[in-house]
Amino acid sequence: MSKAFTARAPGRVNLIGEHTDYNGGWVLPAALSVGIEVSLTPRADSAVTVSSLNYAAPAMRELTEDAVGDWSDPCVGAICEANSLGLLEGGASLDVSSTIPEGSGLSSSAALIVAILKAARQAAGSDLSDVDLAIAARRVENEYMGVPCGIMDQMAVALASPGSAMALDTKSLDWEILPLPAGHEMVVVHSGLTRKLTEGRYGERKAECDAAKRHFGTEDLCLLDPGEIEAAGLDDVPKRRALHCATEHQRTLAAAKALRDGDVAALGRLMNESHASMRDLFEMSLPEIDDLVATSVGLGALGARLTGGGFGGCIVACVPANERGVWLAELLKRHPQARFIDAARPS
Ligand code: GLA
Repeated sequence: MSKAFTARAPGRVNLIGEHTDYNGGWVLPAALSVGIEVSLTPRADSAVTVSSLNYAAPAMRELTEDAVGDWSDPCVGAICEANSLGLLEGGASLDVSSTIPEGSGLSSSAALIVAILKAARQAAGSDLSDVDLAIAARRVENEYMGVPCGIMDQMAVALASPGSAMALDTKSLDWEILPLPAGHEMVVVHSGLTRKLTEGRYGERKAECDAAKRHFGTEDLCLLDPGEIEAAGLDDVPKRRALHCATEHQRTLAAAKALRDGDVAALGRLMNESHASMRDLFEMSLPEIDDLVATSVGLGALGARLTGGGFGGCIVACVPANERGVWLAELLKRHPQARFIDAARPS
């Protein structure tokens, strides 16, 4: 019987820097304690089988099949990619167990793909780096699954560990591990509204950013000066999208500095400004999420914002650790559809 190889990847929450990762900017994710574990057994044939307690039915697919739009796509795509990278020669049997709620915007798909690629790397005894695997995992999403995402999720789940944040320059892929604010928790609360990147609004926003990029003749919307964007005579929608990207990038640089300096008040302010920009300029929030964010701040969070791709999913709030229990109980009482997911805190 063939040997099984096991690997794990965490979910991630993005503290700030939304929709900057395909526009040449910075992001600031943190790994969570929820995650996905994969056990991979190489097969001699070209089948990909997946069993998991998290999904109703086991899947039996072929390496040659295109994406079909269900939960097994990341598995088949990752095994195809592992073949292209020379890590496997054929299919695999996978056993998957996940504690990341699906559709929450906490990178369950990136974590699944990265965990499979890490298990395949072990099977091959390869020395491919985690960055190589993150780039390959993004290819699976972009090319196999047709999801037009950036590189943040794959880099975060391939390289970050719970207990700190990762400031990532998505243009150069340079990163720096930064301390989470002492005495505080970055609390992740699900809004109760689920979303999927494949549903189209993410792609719509990306297309609007692409239009602005063409106007300015650059791939790096985030690096433009907001004043230059205001003055450029762009139509209203691409102008607002570009303004979000450029100001969000600057907020992310400032938030990384706030973490370095231990300035939690500044971090909170930047999170609040980021939410306002996502709501008004990038138009990726929903009224229920704006309410949840407002209540979070009203109850004592230093800052709160929608996190991830938008149009549903989770918020993240920066809350003093000793107030967390009371804060959360009151928040969930006022928003019964919301639920606690996880909290990132300094290790
Ligand atoms: C999703 C994508 C990321 C990023 C965020 C928005 O999580 O997978 O690449 O674009 O949305 O910041």
